[in-house]
Amino acid sequence: MRIGLTYNLKEEALTGVSADNEAGEEFDNIATIEGLCEVIVSLGHEPVKLGFGLGILEKISREKIDFVFNIAEGQGSRNRESHVPSILEMAGIPYSGSDALTLGLALDKIVAKKIIRAAGVPTPAYRQVSGPSEVYLSDKGLKYPLITKPSWEGSSKGIYNSSKAYTKKELDSSLSLLFSKYPGQPILVEEYIEGREVTLGIIGNNPASVLGIMEITNRSSKEKDFFYSLQVKRRWKELVNYTVNPDIPGNLLEEIKYYSLRAFKEFGCRDLARVDFKISRENKPYLLEINPLPGLSCEYSDLVILARQCGWKYEGLISEIINQAFCRYGLKNSGIKFNPVLHGKV
Ligand SMILES: Nc1ncnc2c1ncn2[C@@H]1O[C@H](COP(=O)(O)OP(=O)(O)O)[C@@H](O)[C@H]1O
Ligand SMILES: [Mg+2]
Repeated sequence: MRIGLTYNLKEEALTGVSADNEAGEEFDNIATIEGLCEVIVSLGHEPVKLGFGLGILEKISREKIDFVFNIAEGQGSRNRESHVPSILEMAGIPYSGSDALTLGLALDKIVAKKIIRAAGVPTPAYRQVSGPSEVYLSDKGLKYPLITKPSWEGSSKGIYNSSKAYTKKELDSSLSLLFSKYPGQPILVEEYIEGREVTLGIIGNNPASVLGIMEITNRSSKEKDFFYSLQVKRRWKELVNYTVNPDIPGNLLEEIKYYSLRAFKEFGCRDLARVDFKISRENKPYLLEINPLPGLSCEYSDLVILARQCGWKYEGLISEIINQAFCRYGLKNSGIKFNPVLHGKV
């Protein structure tokens, strides 16, 4: 099969702008794309780099693409992750991962919280602040400390060490920073949950299953107010410890797994996802967000780190995602050549 890859490159987003710009934070580097191409070749297929933008439509037909492996984050709006899946669906091309609606629902953190709540899954109390005229209401009914986040970003974009606010004054200054950095984007103000943080990998369809659970902890005990901010994510090698199968009481672990699978189903996710939780000091879990388009860098992406610590090779993880997508489209027996060594657990 000819498998196209859709993606956004960091290099392209950063052209001509200052180094601290966050625009390319979620985008991929070329090493990730090359790594995915290698796996596709090892599975007996031909990879074709499609990139991003309206041009992919013409490339798909010129290059006779049979299937697309999609990791494109897109640019410009809360529909950005939905652009490529929509185009592929219109063109009748099967692709990996969730569809446009799921990606859009999960990307908008405020819409996502409404779905999470309606599903009976606990998530921190919050308010939406849509613009400066609503700032006076930003902490109404909420308990400090609070955290501010732009609604439609990922990879901790707009989430800084200073985003945790203990007072209205601190909250106001976080809000005005976000209004200037992310103009036109509503801000999510959420109760900050003190306690442990875990992320879960999910893989499969009908039924999906939990691939593993990983705790994110502070490697340098110096930082008291540690959370997975943009600054911390950028210096993950130095600042973060990743531990799979953390010591979590049995009932709580089952509850977290149940909530993550519930969210996967409720959002209509396909093939893969990652779900972030905080666990309060009282051992109550709170779902922060579900990521139906998690990063797949073999170096720094949480899902890949988690899978590796659970015994999966990178090739095994990627081929399993492709396998899941192929199964959905009934493609399993039409051309795929699984390598039993690469496929599945090591
Ligand atoms: N309500 C919260 N309480 C405590 N920490 C939070 C909360 N919301 C976010 N964080 C911290 O900020 C990080 C990024 O937030 P998240 O909602 O997962 O956004 P992103 O899409 O950027 O990953 C989390 O991994 C966590 O460390
Ligand atoms: Mg997150």
